[in-house]
Amino acid sequence: MGVTHAAPTTTQGKAMIKPNIMILATGGTIAGSIDSNIKTTGYTAGVVGIDVLINAVPEIKNLANIKGEQIANIDSADMSDEIWLTLTQKINTLLSSKEVDGIVITHGTDTMEETAFFLHLTIKSDKPVVLTGAMRPSTAMSADGPKNLYNAVALASSPLAKGKGVMVAMNDKIQSARFVSKTHALNVETFKSLNAGDMGYILDGIIYFNYIPNYPHTQKSIFDANNLKSLPKVDILYSYANDGSDIAAQALFNGNTKGIVVAGTGAGSIHKNQKDTLKQLMKKGLIVVQSSRVGTGIVLASEADSKLGFIGAKDLNPQKARVLLMLALTKSNNPTEIAKIFQQY
Ligand code: SIN
Repeated sequence: MGVTHAAPTTTQGKAMIKPNIMILATGGTIAGSIDSNIKTTGYTAGVVGIDVLINAVPEIKNLANIKGEQIANIDSADMSDEIWLTLTQKINTLLSSKEVDGIVITHGTDTMEETAFFLHLTIKSDKPVVLTGAMRPSTAMSADGPKNLYNAVALASSPLAKGKGVMVAMNDKIQSARFVSKTHALNVETFKSLNAGDMGYILDGIIYFNYIPNYPHTQKSIFDANNLKSLPKVDILYSYANDGSDIAAQALFNGNTKGIVVAGTGAGSIHKNQKDTLKQLMKKGLIVVQSSRVGTGIVLASEADSKLGFIGAKDLNPQKARVLLMLALTKSNNPTEIAKIFQQY
C-alpha cells in the first residue's frame, strides 16, 4: 500500500494549524442545475456560484481555511485560451504568497484533462493544485460534486501532494494531469489514466499514492505562460476510413494555424490523401504531430515520417498533444526541436 496522510482535524483535543486553500470556480456540471432531482442530462452547466458550492460542503472547513473565487461559470466545452492564461497567471501569483498553501479548481469534466495538462506544464510551484468536478448536476439525487470537492480539498491540503504536479480528484481517485482522460460520457467512473493506472485514491479524507509521474512538470517544465497574452493556434484533424478530409486538412491550415495534431487510425496512421496534403503544408511551416484516435498505446513517427518532419505524440491523446504542441510552439518553430520536446514531456 502507498503512503498515507490523515486529513488535519484535531489531535488530543488540540487544534492543528489548517492550510489555506483557495478554490477557483470555472463552472461545469458541479455547478449545473435542473428543476428535477431525477435528471442527470439536459441540465445547464455552469449556473451555481462558488459560495453555494462551498456552503454545500461545510466539512471542507474542517480540513482547511477556505476562500473561493469565481473565475468563470461556463460549460467546459467553451473553455478558452484566455481562461487558461488567466488561471495559470492567477495561480502562479497566489502560490507565490505564503498565505496560500494549495489550490482547488472546480471545472467541467469535458475538457478537464486539457486544462489540467496545460496547468501541469505552466504552473511554477510545488504546492498542490487539484481539479475536480462532477458528472451529475448539483440538483441531482446522489450528486457526486460534494464528495469530489471534499476529496479535492483533502488532497490539496495534504503535504504529500506537494511536488506531484497538477492532479485530478474524481470519484475517490487521484489522477495525474499527464495521464488522465475522460473515458465515459455519463458515468461517474469516467476519469482514468489508461496508459498508467490510477495515481492514487482518497478514502475518508486520507490520501494514498500509488506512484509519482516522472515526466517534467510545474517547476521543472520549460514553459512559462506568465507573460503570454495568447497561445499559438493548433487544430486537430481526425482520420477515418474512406478518407474525405483532404479538404479538412486544407481548411484547418487557414493561415493562423501553426500546428495540426492528427487523430490518426491505430498507431497514428494517416490516410494517404491527407498525408500528401499535410506534406505540402509542412513545407509552408506547419508542424504536424501524429497521435491516435484509439485512446491507449504509444504513437511513434516511423523513420521515414520523422525525416519528413512528422512528430509522434507518444502516449498523449490528440487533445493533450494539442496542449503540448501549443506550448512547444511558444518555444520554437523547428520540427526537430519540437520533436525533442515531445520525447521529454
Ligand atoms: C462541462 O464539461 O462543463 C459539462 C459536463 C460536465 O461537467 O460533466
